[in-house]
Amino acid sequence: MTDLAVVHCRQLVTLAGPPGPRSGRAMRDLAIIADGALHIRNGRIVAVGPRADIERSFSEDTEIVDAGGRIVLPGFVDAHTHPVFAGNRAGEFERRVEGATYAEIAATGGGIRATVRSTREASCDCLLAAGRRYADWFLRGGTTTIEAKSGYGLSTDAEIKILKTIRQLNGEGRLRCVPTFLGAHEIPDEYRGRIDDYVELVIHDMLPRVAGENLAEYCDVFCEPNVFPMEPARAVLRAAQALGLGLRLHADQFSADYGALLAAELHAATADHLEASTPVALAALHAAGVQPVLLPASVYNLGGTRYPAARRMIDLGLPVVLATDFNPGSSPTASMPLVLSLAATQMKMTPAECITAATVNAAHSLGRSRQIGSLEPGKAADFAIHDCDDYRELPYFFGREPAHAVYLGGACVYQRVPYTGN
Ligand code: NIG
Ligand code: FE
Repeated sequence: MTDLAVVHCRQLVTLAGPPGPRSGRAMRDLAIIADGALHIRNGRIVAVGPRADIERSFSEDTEIVDAGGRIVLPGFVDAHTHPVFAGNRAGEFERRVEGATYAEIAATGGGIRATVRSTREASCDCLLAAGRRYADWFLRGGTTTIEAKSGYGLSTDAEIKILKTIRQLNGEGRLRCVPTFLGAHEIPDEYRGRIDDYVELVIHDMLPRVAGENLAEYCDVFCEPNVFPMEPARAVLRAAQALGLGLRLHADQFSADYGALLAAELHAATADHLEASTPVALAALHAAGVQPVLLPASVYNLGGTRYPAARRMIDLGLPVVLATDFNPGSSPTASMPLVLSLAATQMKMTPAECITAATVNAAHSLGRSRQIGSLEPGKAADFAIHDCDDYRELPYFFGREPAHAVYLGGACVYQRVPYTGN
């Protein structure tokens, strides 16, 4: 039995509150305890409160972690990532800086299809090594759970290889990974001009194997008129739903009201991106109970200026989620603190709203609201000690990784090495 207490937290940002996702004004309530403490047994939180109130439950066997007057938050839940791929696209990045667009690069065989070619060739060991390296980047930002999509295989075997790598990463116990099947991410080279045949493959070969081997909890589709238009996207998503998978959609990244209306129609868990959505689509998401997942780092990295309308969404009562969209093309960052900064400066979300969107709301979107996302008795002891005096410093000091130490299920999975001189 492990028995651990975290003490001397200047701010213990618990996010305790009623179950379910937070919307409107409730997104600003972080339930902060000054000079708080956490008591953890066997990886679960058993008590949370001011130190004086809970220390009587400590015993001589309780191991004390001194947060040193720093702040403690639930681990971030990054609800949209593409973390398993081989190689990277720094060359395309340079071309984009020089004026080429993301769409032009994709149309000439680059973009997602370039990463598919290198990922298909990569061995399982090579993919796992890359995945471990990126897992470390997530941890450095204080993230303890990621939603992890396939989508760089686009053949049955390669998609399964990626999903098995995600399963292995999850099993290593440093970073929780919730797997999503994204076979409909792009049309691979050998199916160019034959979208119907590719959709057949996704529906009749990939999905049954993925579901049969329990390799994914969700299915995603890149819904865009020139990638997966409405009809094929609907067919893939309905087939996934029939096999018991939840749905998350790449929606309205470039084209208005494309994926969002489909997400509403199918009562998906989330509609992600939403940079081009109109108020009509946002109202449809609200009516259907679909959570918006906003990805400002991809707008930033693509050099765009059209950020999603977060304020309108919050005013409408949508329980907004923030995520990195970590991938080698549009968003090569694993940093949730950077995403919080972009959400605050570019989308005018308050620091408290940002933190709610990156923790409880994100956990709810992944069906994990009873296990993670807040620091409350009964939940997993997934938390980060951040080197700050106040939670508002997380989006304020941007471009740094503030985590001092990160714990998953009560075990330390990341510790910043202090500089000691010489
Ligand atoms: O969410 N838009 C589709 N998928 C990713 C980009 C993937 C890539 O460029 O490799 C996104 O932005
Ligand atoms: Fe994405």
